[in-house]
Amino acid sequence: SHLYVCILLFSILPYIFGSLHLYFKHIFSVRLYQRLQAAGGQDNIIFSPLSVAVALGMVELGARGASLEEIRQAVGFSHLLPGVEFSLLQNLTAALLDDDSHYVIRFANSLFLQEDVTFNPEFLHLMKKYFRADVETVDFSESSAVAEQINKWVENHTDSKIRALLSADDFSSVTRLTLVNAVYFRGSWKNQFRPENTRTFSFSRDDGSEVQTLMMYQQGDFYYGEFSDGSQEAGGVYQVLEMPYEGEDMSMMIVLPRQEVPLASLEPIIKAPLLEEWANNVKRQKVEIYLPRFKVEQKIDLKDTLQELGIKNIFTNNADLSAMTDVEDLYIGKAVQKAYLEVTEEGAEGAVGSGMIALTRTLVLYPQVMADHPFFFIIRNRRTGSILFMGRVMTPEIIDPNDHAFDSM
Ligand SMILES: *[C@@H]1O[C@H](CO)[C@@H](O)[C@H](O)[C@H]1NC(C)=O
Ligand SMILES: *[C@@H]1O[C@H](CO)[C@@H](O)[C@H](O)[C@H]1NC(C)=O
Repeated sequence: SHLYVCILLFSILPYIFGSLHLYFKHIFSVRLYQRLQAAGGQDNIIFSPLSVAVALGMVELGARGASLEEIRQAVGFSHLLPGVEFSLLQNLTAALLDDDSHYVIRFANSLFLQEDVTFNPEFLHLMKKYFRADVETVDFSESSAVAEQINKWVENHTDSKIRALLSADDFSSVTRLTLVNAVYFRGSWKNQFRPENTRTFSFSRDDGSEVQTLMMYQQGDFYYGEFSDGSQEAGGVYQVLEMPYEGEDMSMMIVLPRQEVPLASLEPIIKAPLLEEWANNVKRQKVEIYLPRFKVEQKIDLKDTLQELGIKNIFTNNADLSAMTDVEDLYIGKAVQKAYLEVTEEGAEGAVGSGMIALTRTLVLYPQVMADHPFFFIIRNRRTGSILFMGRVMTPEIIDPNDHAFDSM
């Protein structure tokens, strides 16, 4: 019967991990998106659900009681055996960091704590084990110096791509603990766009106004599907295009409503199972793509956003961070995330140009994806399904050619 139990466990495990894993990846991601969308007006959105989950995992390691439970609930870990989520997060990030030959991902996640606070050694050990992270110490009473020190740290962990994350105003004399979360990704398209095919083009925003943008073009084999949003008009069809980055582990999925339909009317249907449906139903085929060259960046006050998702306790005087340190009355004063994404012809500098499929006139009419109006996007790991970025482009922000070092950040 021992053997039987083992076999049963083995056959259940993939199911348990698979489905809960899915719950966490997608429900949490979509809930975050919906919060940002509700607050975002007509703004572009970009954030990293995986990176937020990792940052929360770090806090969870030091939390107990309600502080711990709220995080497990909100992120979708409450059905896992206690502690399994750390191994899950470790595996999901390892899957991204493993293969750095094709793309660059930098997570800069850390807890910054007041200098004279002593940490529980077990907490420090687990931070290293699961997140390969150290806890950093600063002196919050020197608010300008601390902002500079944290910014330097973030810069150093993001190849100088993310700068000036925090300012002196972000701290006060009572700050004891700050959560910093920055993520940077640079991938190179598997099928690159040819710069000579890029043209100036009009992009119609949801409010009816138009902006000039640089529109890239290519025809090639991609993952593509058409889905229905349930409306009667023109079959209610919207398009989903998945463009792999070199190595095919990572991809960008673009979800584009019909020309006359604002993105705002598609956003409410975006739900966790739908993300899975898109991923499972796009098929490899020849597609003609018009995609703006754009950048999108956002700094999110995670404190506000997470509180709306039910993670409140860690930000109050009632926080229980007793697994982190014996010091009482410790709570998280500040939590921010900054994400940045740039989409260009090659996707990354220094990439080797891949062959462009010659334009041949045949009778086949390929589906055309014309992203000249707002769209939703996801950058995901195709092996694990984890979502590195999620967001939307309401106005394609032009990339300044002189800004290639991202100095303005
Ligand atoms: C993480 O990966 C290890 C090694 O592959 C595996 O044994 C473990 O079950 C994984 N954990 C989760 C939660 O998937
Ligand atoms: C930058 O990072 C490297 C490697 O992680 C480390 O050795 C170095 O001390 C860091 N420098 C600063 C200024 O943080």
